[in-house]
Amino acid sequence: MSSPLDILTLQPPEPAARPAPPFDVRRIRADFPILGQQVQGQPLVYLDNGATAQKPRAVIDALSHYYTDQNANVHRGVHHLSQIATDAYEAARRKVATFINAASDREIIFVRGTTEGINLIAQTFGREQIGEGDEIIITEMEHHSNIVPWWMLCREKGAKLRVIPMNDRGELCLDTYQTLFTSRTKLVSIIHISNVLGTVNPVREIVQIAHAHGVPVHIDGAQAVPHQRVDVRALGCEFYTFSGHKMFAPTGIGVLYGSETYLDTMPPYQGGGSMIQSVDFDNITYGNLPNKFEAGTPNIAGSIGLGAAIDYLNSIDFDGAAKYEANLLEYAHDVLRGVPDLKMLGTAECKVGVLSFTLSDIHPHDVGTILDQAGVAVRAGHHCAQPVMKHYDIPAATRASLSFYNTREDIDALVSGLHTVRKIFG
Ligand code: ALA
Repeated sequence: MSSPLDILTLQPPEPAARPAPPFDVRRIRADFPILGQQVQGQPLVYLDNGATAQKPRAVIDALSHYYTDQNANVHRGVHHLSQIATDAYEAARRKVATFINAASDREIIFVRGTTEGINLIAQTFGREQIGEGDEIIITEMEHHSNIVPWWMLCREKGAKLRVIPMNDRGELCLDTYQTLFTSRTKLVSIIHISNVLGTVNPVREIVQIAHAHGVPVHIDGAQAVPHQRVDVRALGCEFYTFSGHKMFAPTGIGVLYGSETYLDTMPPYQGGGSMIQSVDFDNITYGNLPNKFEAGTPNIAGSIGLGAAIDYLNSIDFDGAAKYEANLLEYAHDVLRGVPDLKMLGTAECKVGVLSFTLSDIHPHDVGTILDQAGVAVRAGHHCAQPVMKHYDIPAATRASLSFYNTREDIDALVSGLHTVRKIFG
């Protein structure tokens, strides 16, 4: 027999998740208000998704709802709004944990983005575990955010970076990787998908090889999460970092996943409110996971926005989106091959929608500026990956990076813009 208390606490059963309708780019585009705008009098063609992705209405609404109806600080108040904000913040953490299949939401640390996540690992795990003469393995195709924090640590400690080289297609040389391990190797830190080349690295194999040598692995997943499903337990890595803004969430929020075994033994990154158990002037004890790593008021709205982005991705046919994007990439490669003097960087067997190229000896900034006149947004420069530029002996490149809301018409606009660039530069 049920008691009155049961009636109060019984929750209605969760509605069974409805299968997402098959992927349809027109319907998806309607979810992203910014895509309807004109730039320089032309319809916006947004091909700078590697830098940041656009936001669906659901994410924008979640931010607005939070500030309109829920705003309060988390973990600090007993009042109504503080409870609501705390629940929403922690619900977002659970969504992230499920999204990447972490074993527990204690393994999810909210940070500003991939860069802060990597700095956190370097300044906590790194400073404790890496000493003079020790070695860290990275790759030639790293973003600066997965080079500079390690380089700084190596300088401080007298440790060394060992670099897995890549071939001209932009694929890692795994044979050389195997030879880089020594008894001093303390960490492997690798990019999952290259932001310049689009190469999808064989991260599971890389983790297995590192583990055979007893070495933990960090994976920089900034460019991976918007394009494919990530399962940290299947990958077996100890750390995985990513940014919200590249996966349709707001800027200023990101995630460090760390296996509980590692996070538990690591010292805190920053000191302040929320990360302690007790403080007096003689002794301080730290809080439990994940609070130990979240000093100060966190980015509450950003976390809720990230949760909304995950809900959005769960509501669409994500596998269909990935297939659609793969077809679009093939189309883009085909049509760009027809542009005279265009040299593509990154032709790996396994790649996602990132197209970096040079066009004759025209400076990429000129290419980007002329494309902008046609409403086409691309990135031009060294893409925070100067070692990749050095590999190809170029100072910079132009990059078009795709998302599942791009279309063949977008690629055609890019190609037409490139023909204009060639005409202008004769
Ligand atoms: N890492 C970002 C990019 O590749 C900013 O553009």
